[in-house]
Amino acid sequence: MADTYTPKPEHRFTFGLWTVGNMGRDPFGIETRPALDPVDSVHRLADLGAYGVNFHDDDLVPFGATPAERETALKRFRQALDKTGIKVPMATTNLFGQPVFKEGAFTANDPVVRRYAIKKTMESIDMGVSLGAKVYVMWGGREGLECEAAKDVRTALDRYAEAVNICCAYAKDRGYDLKFALEPKPNEPRGDMFLPTVGHAIAFINELQWPEMVGLNPEFAHETMSGLNFTHAVAQTLWHGKLFHIDLNAQRIGKFDQDFRFGSEGIRDAFYLVKLLEDSKWDGMLHFDAHAYRTENAEGVWDFARGCMRTYLILAEKSRQFKQDKEIQSALKAAMFDQLSVPTSPDGYGTDALHTLRTGTFDVKALGERGYAHERLDQLVTELLLGVR
Ligand code: GCO
Ligand code: MN
Ligand code: MN
Repeated sequence: MADTYTPKPEHRFTFGLWTVGNMGRDPFGIETRPALDPVDSVHRLADLGAYGVNFHDDDLVPFGATPAERETALKRFRQALDKTGIKVPMATTNLFGQPVFKEGAFTANDPVVRRYAIKKTMESIDMGVSLGAKVYVMWGGREGLECEAAKDVRTALDRYAEAVNICCAYAKDRGYDLKFALEPKPNEPRGDMFLPTVGHAIAFINELQWPEMVGLNPEFAHETMSGLNFTHAVAQTLWHGKLFHIDLNAQRIGKFDQDFRFGSEGIRDAFYLVKLLEDSKWDGMLHFDAHAYRTENAEGVWDFARGCMRTYLILAEKSRQFKQDKEIQSALKAAMFDQLSVPTSPDGYGTDALHTLRTGTFDVKALGERGYAHERLDQLVTELLLGVR
């Protein structure tokens, strides 16, 4: 039955074909679910109220398909999109699955492998753009190493930047309205991956030829794997004007890359993330890069997908309640929340302003004795999330 947490296309939720299509394989066990036809995924997602679907080239057109097989796959998929109204907002390329990429793709030592990775990416960009994609995600699945002696990291970063520049040049050359979003990840599948965190990726963008075309696709699980605060990572990405896409899921620190249903772990962290996205009026896609537990059969996949979207909507409502809650607002006053927007030096950095700062007098003892009511504030948020407010 529909309720206020029922997803609708206007909420801009998207899933990858590889997410709902995940067959439950892990390093220790084979598939537990049958393969999903991309056409069926589109229909099921539309029924659930999603806005869009994304895919790697190989998710839609199997690797090695003949031109005729490719045509058929694309035709059937287009028909499903037209019938359901489901959009394709993002495109990406599988540069990690095939053995050719085992030593890297854009950062492979062999220039021939690198050129093949670029060609595959160009084809995938063409396909994505032809279906409406405005964002192209670059996740460097095999960009990294285990054998430290085998690759010079500074040179690998030269090649990484070169590849991103080539892709930007290609989009410009073709006249595509396309932005690129780098997706950092610390490890898995490589022992150590390049551009391991949001911070690394933001710094990398400054070294590119067209930095304005390149932003980020941060993922909840990836920053959390490193023990970092994902909400802070997204906040800084927004601060730099670099949030181009986002991958939502759930993850516990210190575990393998879990890709759980959004909000299924770390509900408090999920809440602050949703609050940030809502407060910042993020109007891009809310993409779930997650998959159903291996325990699920084909039907459980749709419980998983529905759950991701419902949890987001519930937490969005909690973030509205947070604003309306008088006690929370008074605790925020005690925490001096609003005072952070007052500049430290209202008169700027001129000689007079520096003199004022240099000669200021302070009651350091009184300042040190002050309480900030964080215990009260944090407990109020906990109670809000636990549903007793
Ligand atoms: C992962 C990544 C991928 C990428 C996807 C899009 O950990 O496997 O998150 O799912 O997001 O390849 O490029
Ligand atoms: Mn991931
Ligand atoms: Mn991802």
